[in-house]
Amino acid sequence: MSNDDYLLGICGSPRSQGTEYAIKYAINYLKEKYDYTSEFWTVKNKDIKFCIHCDYCIKEKKGCIHKDDMQELYIKLEHAKVILIGTPVFQGTISGQIKVIMDRCRAIVAKNPKIFKNKIGIALAVGGDRNGGQEIAIRTILDFYQQNHMICVSGGAFGANLGACLWSNDEGKKGIESDKEGLRSIRKVLKRMIEFV
Ligand SMILES: Cc1cc2nc3c(=O)[nH]c(=O)nc-3n(C[C@H](O)[C@H](O)[C@H](O)COP(=O)(O)O)c2cc1C
Repeated sequence: MSNDDYLLGICGSPRSQGTEYAIKYAINYLKEKYDYTSEFWTVKNKDIKFCIHCDYCIKEKKGCIHKDDMQELYIKLEHAKVILIGTPVFQGTISGQIKVIMDRCRAIVAKNPKIFKNKIGIALAVGGDRNGGQEIAIRTILDFYQQNHMICVSGGAFGANLGACLWSNDEGKKGIESDKEGLRSIRKVLKRMIEFV
């Protein structure tokens, strides 16, 4: 297991809009306020194949049979100390892209069952509706962290209970820029996260 001192921000939106803006806001805030380094990675324009349940990863313990853009993400996931998964809310939960990433992580866990152990996990969700499923999406991300022996960190009570919760009002980046409460929830999560690193 490798835990280099940086945050990996994964954007689960297929476009450069609200979710990407929110994750980049987090990355910039971490740098400016805490001088903490991050890296941004997005699913946009990436080739990410479905898990086909071939069990190659379980039998061979050499990672995934697919040689697509997950290969570069696997390396980043292995090295990051903090993982931030940010998702748009699709059908009341995480985007399909984020779900596929989670499924594909089975391959690296099969190769190294401790790959995620003791990494810090934080979650961010952007919904077009004010209450469109952000907390359900966040819970799904936290469940993934928990299942893989990570340490889940939220912003705590009074504003960011489970994670960073944002409302784009279906106006993408512009909507997030004006969601002051949502941006505050990002800052609250990062404040707590820094206590853990
Ligand atoms: C397929 C699809 C399903 C969506 N489902 C929901 C939903 O259930 N709840 C919600 O609040 N917004 C929903 N939205 C709206 C997006 O969450 C919202 O526009 C968000 O800002 C998109 O993220 P982006 O700005 O990063 O592209 C949906 C959008 C799409 C494309």
